[in-house]
Amino acid sequence: MRRKRESGLWVMGELQKINKRPGEGLFISFEGPDGAGKTTQARLLKEQLEALGLPVLLTREPGGTPIGEAIRKLLLNPSFKEMTVISEALLYSAARAQLVSTLIRPALDRGEIVLCDRYLDSSLVYQGLAGGEDLEMIAKINLWATGKLLPALTILLDLEARRGLERLQKAETGAAVETWQGDRVEQKELSFHQRVQQGFLQLAAREKERFFVVPAGDKPEVVRAKIWHKMQEILTQKGYL
Ligand code: TYD
Repeated sequence: MRRKRESGLWVMGELQKINKRPGEGLFISFEGPDGAGKTTQARLLKEQLEALGLPVLLTREPGGTPIGEAIRKLLLNPSFKEMTVISEALLYSAARAQLVSTLIRPALDRGEIVLCDRYLDSSLVYQGLAGGEDLEMIAKINLWATGKLLPALTILLDLEARRGLERLQKAETGAAVETWQGDRVEQKELSFHQRVQQGFLQLAAREKERFFVVPAGDKPEVVRAKIWHKMQEILTQKGYL
């Protein structure tokens, strides 16, 4: 128990046990390093669910609410280089608290399927495992911020950090690495992004039931098909199909 506690990750496993609320909607998050293609896949999944006539809400973090979008601007502003990791963690969790209480919970209570482009695992990884801040504290603050709401399924798009950054550079400028600016997070050094990739894999290894890891280096259509295969299983289990 002590070793588990020291890692900080024990909080996630413990609280997940008391978080099962059968009968409500289905909460799914997308995670992964920058440039892994989460946004594309979340959108494709939304379209596929809607084509079946299922009620679906797609949102993103940081953001998704007017307050959250304002916090997003603060967080991603490239001129705020001096922002501490603790400040970051608190701002991300503030945006998340607003999103969960005003958008996600009400949608789940209506029985909808909620797709969230990033969620609290991003804080555990970017501010904790890669950013070096206290993982247990980040987990606790976020469980408080979200009323202990965890996704039923977290789709982790796994991509080598360098490839993810290259994809972003191409998409944003169509030009060479040297001319690319990126947002405040994207500007961090490669080793940070490598810790991010490893951090997500570490979380996934600890919570095998919640995480579904998909290699994201393939063409979007191949990735989409793998996600859909997994989704069919869950949708059937939950009685949507
Ligand atoms: P965004 O442009 O949405 O990137 P992406 O499309 O890769 O999700 O910017 C979000 C950035 O914020 C991303 O680099 C990851 C970072 N982030 C954290 O550091 N902590 C968090 O809790 C969240 C939600 C995001």
